[in-house]
Amino acid sequence: MKILFLGDIVGKPARVYLKELLPSLRSTLSLDFIIANGENAAGGSSLTPDTAQEIFESGVDVVTTGDHIFKKQEAKEVLATMDVIRPLNYGELASGRGYIIKESKGKKIGVINLLGRVFMQPVDCPFKTIRDTLENIKKEAKVIIVDMHAEATSEKLAMGYFLAGKVSACLGTHTHIPTADEKIIDNYTAYITDLGMTGSFDSVLGREKHQIIERFLTNMPVRFNLAQGDVRAQGLIMEIDDQTGGALSIERVEYRKDDKTGGAL
Ligand SMILES: [Fe+2]
Ligand SMILES: [Fe+2]
Repeated sequence: MKILFLGDIVGKPARVYLKELLPSLRSTLSLDFIIANGENAAGGSSLTPDTAQEIFESGVDVVTTGDHIFKKQEAKEVLATMDVIRPLNYGELASGRGYIIKESKGKKIGVINLLGRVFMQPVDCPFKTIRDTLENIKKEAKVIIVDMHAEATSEKLAMGYFLAGKVSACLGTHTHIPTADEKIIDNYTAYITDLGMTGSFDSVLGREKHQIIERFLTNMPVRFNLAQGDVRAQGLIMEIDDQTGGALSIERVEYRKDDKTGGAL
């Protein structure tokens, strides 16, 4: 099966572009399943029922999140009622769930969200959490996609090797900057340190660049508005063998709203 995973969706410019991009992409590329990280989708932080609905209407099947998910109160309602997951290693007392099993053309797909701990908020250990949970999830789904939402490249790569041969894909999100290290580890597990971003690229990570520069120059608190220009969607397309659960091929992709170009990088 063919699965597209998109990097962090940042605000309205990204949501509007996905509505334009995904329906035709899904049919042109015969995509079976689309996953996207939505932790920045509502005004740059978290998700609301309306913004999540917009993302699902554009054709996304499952939304993963990260450290920004609980910045809006409405996120609890989204996690309780929609196919949106939060990092599994927030622990069992946090709202929402850390993984989901969905079906596409009769085949089950498990999607798991993890949060890194290096240079991030303290949460449960992502390595021990997935080690203790994975066997149960594997009883339900052969194809398993992990979103490793983390800051440090080392922690993401270590997770990729930790899960090698055990999951179909371990893909990094959070930094909004794509890396060029995509590979299939042990001839089974698709890996990339970061998928990149879906949002304005005339920006710093999706926010107005002049405001970010002012913050760095003055050390004063500055409001960061969403940037609008040069909207792109970045991610990875994977072909996965639904009999073995292993990745057969991977391709980094980028689509551009302004010149309607895009595809494999
Ligand atoms: Fe993000
Ligand atoms: Fe994040």
